[in-house]
Amino acid sequence: MPLPSPYPNLLDGPSVASTIPSSELHRVFRDAGERERISGVPVTKLHVGEPYFTPPPEVAQALAEAVTAGRTDYTAVEGLLELRERLVEKLADQNGVDTDVSRLFVTPGSCQGLAALMQAVAEPDAEILLPELHWPIHLQQALLAGLRPVFYPLGRDYRTDPKSVLAASTANTRVLLINSPANPTGAVLDTATLSTLIDMARARGWQVISDEAYEHFVFDDEHVSTASLEWDVPVSERIVHSSYSFSKSLAMTGYRLGYVSTANDRTAHAFRIVQEANLIAMSTPVQYAGLEALRLGHVVRENRAMVLSNRDAVLPAVRDAGLLPELPAGGWYAVLDVAPTGLTAEEFATGLLETRNVAVVPGTGFALMPRLDARGRVITVEPAPWSRHLIRIAMCVAPSVLRSGVRELLEFARERPGTAR
Ligand SMILES: Cc1ncc(COP(=O)(O)O)c(C=O)c1O
Repeated sequence: MPLPSPYPNLLDGPSVASTIPSSELHRVFRDAGERERISGVPVTKLHVGEPYFTPPPEVAQALAEAVTAGRTDYTAVEGLLELRERLVEKLADQNGVDTDVSRLFVTPGSCQGLAALMQAVAEPDAEILLPELHWPIHLQQALLAGLRPVFYPLGRDYRTDPKSVLAASTANTRVLLINSPANPTGAVLDTATLSTLIDMARARGWQVISDEAYEHFVFDDEHVSTASLEWDVPVSERIVHSSYSFSKSLAMTGYRLGYVSTANDRTAHAFRIVQEANLIAMSTPVQYAGLEALRLGHVVRENRAMVLSNRDAVLPAVRDAGLLPELPAGGWYAVLDVAPTGLTAEEFATGLLETRNVAVVPGTGFALMPRLDARGRVITVEPAPWSRHLIRIAMCVAPSVLRSGVRELLEFARERPGTAR
């Protein structure tokens, strides 16, 4: 006989986490690996944001030296002071962001920094505004933090229109997520749009989380850090919390190194508590690697040039085939619309993998719209109908891989009955 629950109202159903959809990215990752294993034929991987350029050797050396020299004790929960001081300087010099070591935290990848930020700002029943086409991990993080996601529509070019953000907001809105350059769309927001969004947020008492993982991959303009627009605002009135990463700029994906600058001391305090509970501390040797990486600005510029050259060499053919409205203005990805083939994204991705050994991600995985119960558990989840012909490809892969993968993709598309060109 089941024991009576001491918490009958809490334990009468599944946990919130168990109801959250797994990321489509991870599913495709597994499918591609499985296909390689069974067929023995290598899959052309356009699905994953893993760069072909590698972390600089100086960074690996700094990591090894830290380990062999025994610099392996716990650091403070905020991270190594020396690294945080350098990051404060970097943010001031390169991003125009005014911060202080007391508000700056080193994190194990920016993914964890973003999750911790959401936990730090979450309030009961609070809503977070996410772009309707978003990185699926933002959605998972919001749900885990207890924030209720509300989606704002994007324009034809996938850029954020402040009017649509306002129209989607409600009396319960507390947080606005901005991701520029964006994953998956590559959309980049300009100063005017960011200023309007911050003014709107401040007037309504919202917090802003600015995910700038792709800050160094803006192709046609300069990157604008959202928090730079608060330079003149007193610290206690600032609302923009920013997250940055070493993964993209220096290809340090597996090092797991990122950092967060909280807007004000209140959020810094809450963030510290979240990290005390989640981390104890960052990996110490990895932070020494980060110190070395900060000296390598030229590598960051070279990495940007490689992705830009990939974009310009390969994506115009996709645009000319009618599958890509515009070249992405930033980031590592492009969102293709395969509607002219008459196939859904799922059919396209499966067919491409099975017949041409090329892996891409269906865009539906970036447009999931969950419905929640009163406690924040997901009851149903459906992709937005307009996403059913979208797929995402990564353009940070080796030029030869991108060229051959896209050639196969275009041939596959041309063979479909509905394809015009
Ligand atoms: C938009 C966005 N933000 C954050 C991250 C997290 O990167 P990391 O945890 O490696 O710093 C990613 C990784 O793909 C991303 O696409």
